[in-house]
Amino acid sequence: MSALKQFQKEKIQQVELTLDSHLPAPHSEPARLHKAMRYSTLNGGKRIRAMLVYATGHLLDLPSYLLDSLACSIELIHAYSLIHDDLPCMDDDDLRRGKASCHRAFDEATAILAGDALLTLAFKVLSDADCSAEQKIIFIQLLSQASGSRGMVGGQAIDLANEGRNILISEIENTYSHKTGALICSCVTMVASLKFNAKDKQYQHLKNYAECIGLAFQVQDDILDETSSTQVLGKTQGKDQQAEKSTYPSLLGLDASKKLANNLYDNAIANLSSFGERANYLRDLAQFTVSRLT
Ligand code: IPE
Ligand code: IPE
Ligand code: MG
Ligand code: MG
Ligand code: MG
Repeated sequence: MSALKQFQKEKIQQVELTLDSHLPAPHSEPARLHKAMRYSTLNGGKRIRAMLVYATGHLLDLPSYLLDSLACSIELIHAYSLIHDDLPCMDDDDLRRGKASCHRAFDEATAILAGDALLTLAFKVLSDADCSAEQKIIFIQLLSQASGSRGMVGGQAIDLANEGRNILISEIENTYSHKTGALICSCVTMVASLKFNAKDKQYQHLKNYAECIGLAFQVQDDILDETSSTQVLGKTQGKDQQAEKSTYPSLLGLDASKKLANNLYDNAIANLSSFGERANYLRDLAQFTVSRLT
């Protein structure tokens, strides 16, 4: 097994145990809501955001009890974003991670509320983290910025507004960096904030690395939406075209989109040049981002 695979196996277990310990018990009232929260969080997923937290923590030699809180809070926000993204009023998707999407397994109101509750729980997890009050405020600032209307939620709004429109490349880059890039970037910057000041060179290099792979991650998601299958993806293939989404493949074609993803990968790697071997997991994750099949 490759070093990354072994690392991934261990860390996926770690974040899932942490998620399980923070999620309300499935039979506690309101049980339907709590079951939906668990259903949409403990249902697999690649956990790439958690991996980025742990890989950055490995680079900076930070203790795992802090990384667990960060990885858990980000995966909670991500799970909430997927539940809402699948709703009929958004992407209208019936399948997520190989199973019925939350609103199909439960109902729409429960899905909306489960998303709301996961978002809220993410900040509770951060407020309980084992670190100074000042550091918690920094975490909360970074994660709220990344997830809100100037980050992921804003990107989702632009993404929906772009449907059926002819848009410019600069507009699509803006959409992706908000809807997907912002949260991915926070996985790295939250950890980096434990060691560096936002103005430090190392912090900037790590942030640039994360911005590149954040964008590349969505480019690859859109490529897979065109080229993969529902069975492999565990979500409905071909939805972007059906919904007339504005994506890089729809604007540039597949070859140019792949080239763009590879350029972003090169740029991500270049930003790690001042870090030694301990950055290898981050390098591997950049590779995974552009070569993944799911
Ligand atoms: C899907 O994210 C949504 C996007 C931002 C493209 P992932 O591909 O990370 O989803 P899971 O967590 O592995 O299911
Ligand atoms: C979703 O992008 C990004 C989010 C913030 C959830 P997509 O709509 O392309 O994600 P999938 O393909 O449904 O996972
Ligand atoms: Mg979407
Ligand atoms: Mg979607
Ligand atoms: Mg997609």
